[in-house]
Amino acid sequence: MADIESLIGQMTLEEKAALCTGASAWTTTPVERLGIPAMLVSDGPHGVRRVPDIQSMGGQSLPATCFPTASGLASTWNVDLIHEMGQALGEECIALNVDVLLGPGNNMKRTPLCGRNFEYFSEDPFLSGEMAASLINGIQSKGVGTSLKHYAANNQEYERFVISAEVDERTLREIYLPAFETAVKKGKPWTVMCAYNKLNGTYASEHRELLTDILKNEWGFEGLVVSDWGAVHDRVAALKAGLDWQMPGPREREVRAVVEAVRSGSLDEAVLNESARRILNIVFKAAETPKGGEFDAEAHHALARRVAAESMLLLKNDGVLPLASPQHIAVVGRAAREAHFQGGGSSHIHPTQVSIPYKELQQFAGDAELTYAEGYPSDNTYRPEMIEEAVKLAQDADVALLYIALPTFKESEGYDRADLDLTEQQVGLIKAVGRVQPRTVVILNNGAPVDMRGWIDHTAAVLEAWMMGQAGGGAIADVLFGKVNPSGRLAETFPLKLSDTPAHTNYPGENGTVHYGERLFIGYRYYDAKEIPVQFPFGYGLSYTTFEYSNPNVSSKTFKDVDGLTVSVDVTNTGNLTGKEVVQVYVHDRKSRLIRPPKELKGFTKIELQPGETKTVTIALDFRSFAYYNPAYKEWVTEDGEFDILIGSSSADIRSTETVTLESSLTLPSILTIESTIRDWLEDPKGRAVFGPMFEKMTQQMNNAFGSDSGDSEAIGMDATGFMVEMPLLSILQFQERSLERPAHEIVEGLLQQVHHQ
Ligand code: BGC
Repeated sequence: MADIESLIGQMTLEEKAALCTGASAWTTTPVERLGIPAMLVSDGPHGVRRVPDIQSMGGQSLPATCFPTASGLASTWNVDLIHEMGQALGEECIALNVDVLLGPGNNMKRTPLCGRNFEYFSEDPFLSGEMAASLINGIQSKGVGTSLKHYAANNQEYERFVISAEVDERTLREIYLPAFETAVKKGKPWTVMCAYNKLNGTYASEHRELLTDILKNEWGFEGLVVSDWGAVHDRVAALKAGLDWQMPGPREREVRAVVEAVRSGSLDEAVLNESARRILNIVFKAAETPKGGEFDAEAHHALARRVAAESMLLLKNDGVLPLASPQHIAVVGRAAREAHFQGGGSSHIHPTQVSIPYKELQQFAGDAELTYAEGYPSDNTYRPEMIEEAVKLAQDADVALLYIALPTFKESEGYDRADLDLTEQQVGLIKAVGRVQPRTVVILNNGAPVDMRGWIDHTAAVLEAWMMGQAGGGAIADVLFGKVNPSGRLAETFPLKLSDTPAHTNYPGENGTVHYGERLFIGYRYYDAKEIPVQFPFGYGLSYTTFEYSNPNVSSKTFKDVDGLTVSVDVTNTGNLTGKEVVQVYVHDRKSRLIRPPKELKGFTKIELQPGETKTVTIALDFRSFAYYNPAYKEWVTEDGEFDILIGSSSADIRSTETVTLESSLTLPSILTIESTIRDWLEDPKGRAVFGPMFEKMTQQMNNAFGSDSGDSEAIGMDATGFMVEMPLLSILQFQERSLERPAHEIVEGLLQQVHHQ
């Protein structure tokens, strides 16, 4: 390893400023005279998009394996499989001379309209964090780096370069940051990429609290922070905030600005040195892994097929699947012949090969007759004659397989979706085929939920195949014919309709800002709290077998928050086929000072079971499983009291509920002020101790005054105590000031003194 301190000492100001900016679209700036090499980064995230000409952002990239996109990966709920895929990505990076892969994308799915949701994992921060950490660990186990992106609050493509996400502190801490936090702490990515957008009025690239206070200082991130491509607006401000490396380059103007800022004294050279140090650390770390050679394209294609098959979600099945030796299969839909397996934009991979769904069916179909109709055009036109052709084929067949892909003009990086709908032609096609063929199976290729109300009743089965990667065509056949028992579970809710979705009235924002007004309540947190029916709930997915849960257990009925808990349950495969089940553990806080979602995912495990087999699943819960973030203390806090531990097969299919009692280990400082209400005083342990006796007297006086012992006074037609607790102590004393020995202000300040200096 190079002596970084000595190198920094030898570098000129210009060299350091240039190091903090790219030399090309994909490389760091080398310093030949000091033996500092260039480091090369590439997109990401579900394949290596290695552009041969490093000066160019786009163009045909070198062939690499296109794995399923993050929507699919998260649907596997299989951290080991994702780790294995990460290893394969790492090997491809090495073969393609890539030092750092730009991914995973770890933004939350706030609205299904975000055009880029296909690149993100989930609506749940716990699941997203685990998936991202696993992928990072897999990739980095090979000695290449990752770039966790887009940090933070980049949850829509609409005005993504400029919009300000207005997010309150608690929501940020509980929903938008934890997936990054877990990925940073458990995965230790070499780099983190800042988002394009602003957060509460400040560009992410210049957001000191995000980049330095939270990421580097609080979470202990030791790598470098890179800008998203073109996200830097004021280079000096960005450096000061903790943005180490600006991309893409070269950017002579910015390099000059940094040099001048140091010379004029407006930028401390130590800040520049710190960024240079972080960059050099990664550059030399990357250089330790020799690059070149070849990767095993066939093995990776096979792995991509396994991952795709495990990501697939059987959403509906009236028994038609798995297919039982049909004699005539009508195959309908362009996507059967032209696999729709990835999304548009920076993650677009040049695949090593592509499995064509139709051809893959032929492998399984034996002697069965396969007929094909295109069903819908590539554009948005309505073509009734194509529907008629499909109907003719379908009515003579034993089963109709409809391959429906959401077209790129409806979903991509760079712009949001206008609605959740399939095209009019696709809906018409499904309905028309479904009317003549009761055994109609719809296979979907899309990166985010679609509205199914208009057509799902016309189907016998629906398989969500996602943007399934290059081997997805084969994976679909594996699932349809039962070679693979589907085990995907939804990592995001499928709502019934767009107007039901959590951010609906706060999206897309106006005049440059978007208010995250739904706060903590995104995804199932929202649908649960509002009791809004959904098409398919979070965590849901069918199998060709059935699972029974028994013997739920918690390690202790009463526990200390810092000790956490262990939850266990026996799961039995009660069907006739081997299958995989995802056991999910949610936590519900029965009573809390701050509002909390009805339930939150805090643990999960995926297991495989032979028919009749039983396994015991054990899941650990820790302090954070029970804590919420209280901005008043700027802390994760726990409160004494009861929690329900919900063990389920989905967020809506809870199989057992255990109630436990938590003892908080925290002694929080008092936050009482001159404005605090009587309730605040009573709820604060110290406040209650000093104010308690006075409160008793006040209640007595109140009751006397209104002639009621219970405080339920007829004289003023209201509950006097209830009325009182809402008032600041000061205000209530001021009403009685004439009868007090001292001014109300003095009394409250005296109490505050006692509380704060106890
Ligand atoms: C995207 C990033 C990507 C970068 C480089 C940006 O437009 O937001 O995700 O890594 O380009 O292609």
